Amino acid sequence: MIIAVDGPAASGKGTLASGLARHYQLPHLDTGLLYRAVGQAVDGLEDDPEFEAAAIAAAQALDPSQLDNAEALTAARAGVMASKVAVIGPVREALFEFQRSFALQDGGAVLDGRDIGTRICPDADVKLFIRADSKARMERRARQLEQRGQRVDRYALYHQIEERDARDMANPHGGFYKADDAVLLDTTQLGIEAALQAAVAIVDEAL
Ligand code: C5P
Repeated sequence: MIIAVDGPAASGKGTLASGLARHYQLPHLDTGLLYRAVGQAVDGLEDDPEFEAAAIAAAQALDPSQLDNAEALTAARAGVMASKVAVIGPVREALFEFQRSFALQDGGAVLDGRDIGTRICPDADVKLFIRADSKARMERRARQLEQRGQRVDRYALYHQIEERDARDMANPHGGFYKADDAVLLDTTQLGIEAALQAAVAIVDEAL
Protein backbone atom coordinates (compact mmCIF):
# COMPACT_ATOMS: atom_id res chain seq x y z
CA MET A 1 0.00 0.00 0.00
CA ILE A 2 1.40 3.39 -0.99
CA ILE A 3 0.08 6.48 0.77
CA ALA A 4 1.01 9.83 -0.79
CA VAL A 5 0.75 12.93 1.40
CA ASP A 6 1.27 16.34 -0.20
CA GLY A 7 0.88 19.86 1.07
CA PRO A 8 2.59 23.21 1.59
CA ALA A 9 5.24 24.18 4.14
CA ALA A 10 4.25 23.59 7.76
CA SER A 11 0.83 22.23 6.83
CA GLY A 12 1.32 19.33 9.23
CA LYS A 13 1.80 16.81 6.44
CA GLY A 14 5.00 15.41 7.99
CA THR A 15 3.36 14.79 11.36
CA LEU A 16 0.35 13.24 9.66
CA ALA A 17 2.48 11.07 7.40
CA SER A 18 4.50 9.73 10.32
CA GLY A 19 1.28 9.09 12.26
CA LEU A 20 -0.17 7.19 9.30
CA ALA A 21 3.06 5.21 8.96
CA ARG A 22 2.82 4.18 12.62
CA HIS A 23 -0.86 3.35 12.31
CA TYR A 24 -0.44 1.13 9.24
CA GLN A 25 3.06 -0.04 10.19
CA LEU A 26 4.65 1.24 7.01
CA PRO A 27 8.02 2.89 6.49
CA HIS A 28 7.89 6.67 6.03
CA LEU A 29 9.97 9.01 3.89
CA ASP A 30 9.84 12.75 4.46
CA THR A 31 10.98 13.77 0.96
CA GLY A 32 11.53 17.37 2.08
CA LEU A 33 14.61 16.08 3.90
CA LEU A 34 16.21 15.17 0.56
CA TYR A 35 15.79 18.72 -0.74
CA ARG A 36 16.89 20.14 2.61
CA ALA A 37 20.08 18.06 2.56
CA VAL A 38 20.89 19.26 -0.96
CA GLY A 39 20.07 22.85 0.03
CA GLN A 40 22.30 22.59 3.05
CA ALA A 41 25.18 21.29 0.94
CA VAL A 42 25.12 24.45 -1.19
CA ASP A 43 24.19 26.97 1.51
CA GLY A 44 26.13 30.19 0.97
CA LEU A 45 26.65 29.59 -2.75
CA GLU A 46 23.39 31.23 -3.93
CA ASP A 47 25.20 34.09 -5.67
CA ASP A 48 27.81 31.85 -7.18
CA PRO A 49 27.47 31.29 -10.94
CA GLU A 50 28.10 27.60 -10.22
CA PHE A 51 25.13 27.36 -7.82
CA GLU A 52 22.98 25.20 -10.07
CA ALA A 53 25.81 22.89 -11.02
CA ALA A 54 26.81 22.50 -7.36
CA ALA A 55 23.22 21.71 -6.37
CA ILE A 56 22.89 19.11 -9.13
CA ALA A 57 26.18 17.50 -8.08
CA ALA A 58 25.05 17.47 -4.43
CA ALA A 59 21.74 15.83 -5.41
CA GLN A 60 23.51 13.19 -7.48
CA ALA A 61 25.93 12.45 -4.64
CA LEU A 62 23.27 12.42 -1.92
CA ASP A 63 23.82 9.64 0.58
CA PRO A 64 20.96 8.50 2.84
CA SER A 65 23.21 8.97 5.89
CA GLN A 66 22.99 12.74 5.23
CA LEU A 67 19.33 12.56 6.21
CA ASP A 68 20.17 11.53 9.76
CA ASN A 69 21.01 15.04 10.87
CA ALA A 70 17.34 15.89 11.37
CA GLU A 71 18.03 18.70 13.82
CA ALA A 72 20.00 20.80 11.33
CA LEU A 73 17.79 19.84 8.39
CA THR A 74 14.60 21.00 10.06
CA ALA A 75 15.97 24.52 10.67
CA ALA A 76 14.08 27.28 8.83
CA ARG A 77 17.21 28.16 6.86
CA ALA A 78 17.44 24.62 5.44
CA GLY A 79 13.79 24.91 4.31
CA VAL A 80 14.52 28.13 2.44
CA MET A 81 17.62 26.61 0.80
CA ALA A 82 15.59 23.48 -0.04
CA SER A 83 13.02 25.56 -1.93
CA LYS A 84 15.86 27.22 -3.89
CA VAL A 85 17.35 23.94 -5.10
CA ALA A 86 13.90 22.42 -5.67
CA VAL A 87 13.33 24.69 -8.70
CA ILE A 88 16.30 23.10 -10.52
CA GLY A 89 14.94 20.38 -12.82
CA PRO A 90 18.00 18.07 -12.76
CA VAL A 91 18.00 18.20 -8.94
CA ARG A 92 14.46 16.83 -8.96
CA GLU A 93 15.44 14.19 -11.50
CA ALA A 94 18.42 13.13 -9.39
CA LEU A 95 16.17 12.67 -6.34
CA PHE A 96 13.40 10.87 -8.25
CA GLU A 97 14.85 7.36 -8.17
CA PHE A 98 15.53 7.35 -4.42
CA GLN A 99 11.93 8.34 -3.71
CA ARG A 100 10.48 5.93 -6.26
CA SER A 101 12.45 2.96 -4.92
CA PHE A 102 11.42 3.84 -1.38
CA ALA A 103 7.76 3.85 -2.47
CA LEU A 104 8.04 0.53 -4.27
CA GLN A 105 9.56 -1.50 -1.45
CA ASP A 106 7.68 -4.62 -0.42
CA GLY A 107 4.66 -3.93 1.76
CA GLY A 108 4.39 -0.30 0.75
CA ALA A 109 5.28 3.05 2.25
CA VAL A 110 4.10 6.51 3.21
CA LEU A 111 5.79 9.44 1.47
CA ASP A 112 5.18 13.10 2.09
CA GLY A 113 6.21 16.13 0.06
CA ARG A 114 4.94 18.31 -2.77
CA ASP A 115 4.76 16.13 -5.86
CA ILE A 116 4.23 12.67 -4.42
CA GLY A 117 0.68 12.17 -5.69
CA THR A 118 1.38 13.83 -9.03
CA ARG A 119 4.92 12.76 -10.02
CA ILE A 120 6.60 10.32 -7.65
CA CYS A 121 3.65 8.01 -7.00
CA PRO A 122 0.84 8.84 -9.44
CA ASP A 123 -0.21 5.23 -8.84
CA ALA A 124 -0.49 5.57 -5.02
CA ASP A 125 -3.39 3.70 -3.40
CA VAL A 126 -4.38 6.72 -1.35
CA LYS A 127 -3.51 10.38 -1.91
CA LEU A 128 -4.01 13.09 0.65
CA PHE A 129 -3.56 16.78 0.05
CA ILE A 130 -3.17 18.69 3.31
CA ARG A 131 -3.92 22.35 3.65
CA ALA A 132 -4.03 24.82 6.53
CA ASP A 133 -4.10 28.61 6.41
CA SER A 134 -0.82 30.52 6.58
CA LYS A 135 -1.33 31.88 10.11
CA ALA A 136 -2.06 28.43 11.53
CA ARG A 137 0.99 27.03 9.74
CA MET A 138 3.21 29.83 11.06
CA GLU A 139 1.97 29.29 14.61
CA ARG A 140 2.62 25.53 14.46
CA ARG A 141 6.10 25.98 13.06
CA ALA A 142 6.83 28.68 15.69
CA ARG A 143 5.83 26.35 18.54
CA GLN A 144 7.88 23.53 17.04
CA LEU A 145 10.98 25.75 16.90
CA GLU A 146 10.36 27.13 20.39
CA GLN A 147 10.11 23.60 21.77
CA ARG A 148 13.58 23.06 20.40
CA GLY A 149 14.76 26.09 22.34
CA GLN A 150 15.02 28.37 19.31
CA ARG A 151 13.92 32.01 19.46
CA VAL A 152 11.22 32.83 16.95
CA ASP A 153 10.35 36.06 15.17
CA ARG A 154 6.72 35.30 14.17
CA TYR A 155 6.52 38.14 11.66
CA ALA A 156 9.65 36.94 9.86
CA LEU A 157 8.50 33.33 10.03
CA TYR A 158 5.13 34.21 8.48
CA HIS A 159 6.86 35.92 5.58
CA GLN A 160 9.30 33.08 5.18
CA ILE A 161 6.39 30.62 4.84
CA GLU A 162 4.64 32.87 2.31
CA GLU A 163 7.87 33.33 0.37
CA ARG A 164 8.45 29.58 0.29
CA ASP A 165 4.86 28.95 -0.84
CA ALA A 166 5.28 31.49 -3.63
CA ARG A 167 8.53 29.88 -4.81
CA ASP A 168 7.03 26.40 -4.62
CA MET A 169 3.89 27.49 -6.47
CA ALA A 170 5.89 29.11 -9.26
CA ASN A 171 8.22 26.11 -9.60
CA PRO A 172 7.97 25.02 -13.22
CA HIS A 173 9.24 21.54 -12.32
CA GLY A 174 7.20 21.13 -9.18
CA GLY A 175 3.70 20.05 -9.91
CA PHE A 176 2.70 21.53 -6.55
CA TYR A 177 -0.97 21.08 -6.99
CA LYS A 178 -3.47 18.61 -5.72
CA ALA A 179 -3.69 15.47 -7.83
CA ASP A 180 -7.22 15.06 -9.24
CA ASP A 181 -7.70 11.90 -7.23
CA ALA A 182 -6.26 13.26 -3.95
CA VAL A 183 -8.55 13.88 -1.00
CA LEU A 184 -8.28 17.37 0.47
CA LEU A 185 -7.86 17.56 4.24
CA ASP A 186 -7.94 21.00 5.83
CA THR A 187 -6.20 20.88 9.22
CA THR A 188 -6.53 24.60 10.11
CA GLN A 189 -8.97 23.83 12.91
CA LEU A 190 -7.67 20.38 13.82
CA GLY A 191 -5.19 19.33 16.48
CA ILE A 192 -2.69 16.55 15.71
CA GLU A 193 -4.90 13.72 17.00
CA ALA A 194 -8.04 14.94 15.24
CA ALA A 195 -6.12 15.42 11.98
CA LEU A 196 -4.69 11.91 12.25
CA GLN A 197 -8.12 10.42 12.90
CA ALA A 198 -9.48 12.23 9.85
CA ALA A 199 -6.56 10.98 7.72
CA VAL A 200 -7.00 7.38 8.92
CA ALA A 201 -10.70 7.59 8.07
CA ILE A 202 -9.83 8.75 4.54
CA VAL A 203 -7.28 5.93 4.08
CA ASP A 204 -9.63 3.26 5.46
CA GLU A 205 -12.38 4.47 3.20
CA ALA A 206 -10.08 4.25 0.17
CA LEU A 207 -8.90 0.71 0.86
O1 C5P B 1 8.42 19.68 3.19
P1 C5P B 1 9.55 20.60 3.55
O2 C5P B 1 9.11 21.91 4.10
O3 C5P B 1 10.60 19.93 4.35
O4 C5P B 1 10.23 20.90 2.11
C1 C5P B 1 11.25 21.85 1.96
C2 C5P B 1 11.25 22.36 0.52
O5 C5P B 1 11.68 21.30 -0.34
C3 C5P B 1 9.88 22.78 -0.01
O6 C5P B 1 9.59 24.15 0.27
C4 C5P B 1 9.98 22.49 -1.49
O7 C5P B 1 10.56 23.59 -2.15
C5 C5P B 1 10.96 21.33 -1.57
N1 C5P B 1 10.31 20.03 -1.79
C6 C5P B 1 9.98 19.69 -3.08
N2 C5P B 1 9.43 18.46 -3.35
C7 C5P B 1 9.21 17.57 -2.35
C8 C5P B 1 9.54 17.90 -1.02
C9 C5P B 1 10.08 19.15 -0.77
O8 C5P B 1 10.18 20.49 -3.99
N3 C5P B 1 8.71 16.38 -2.65
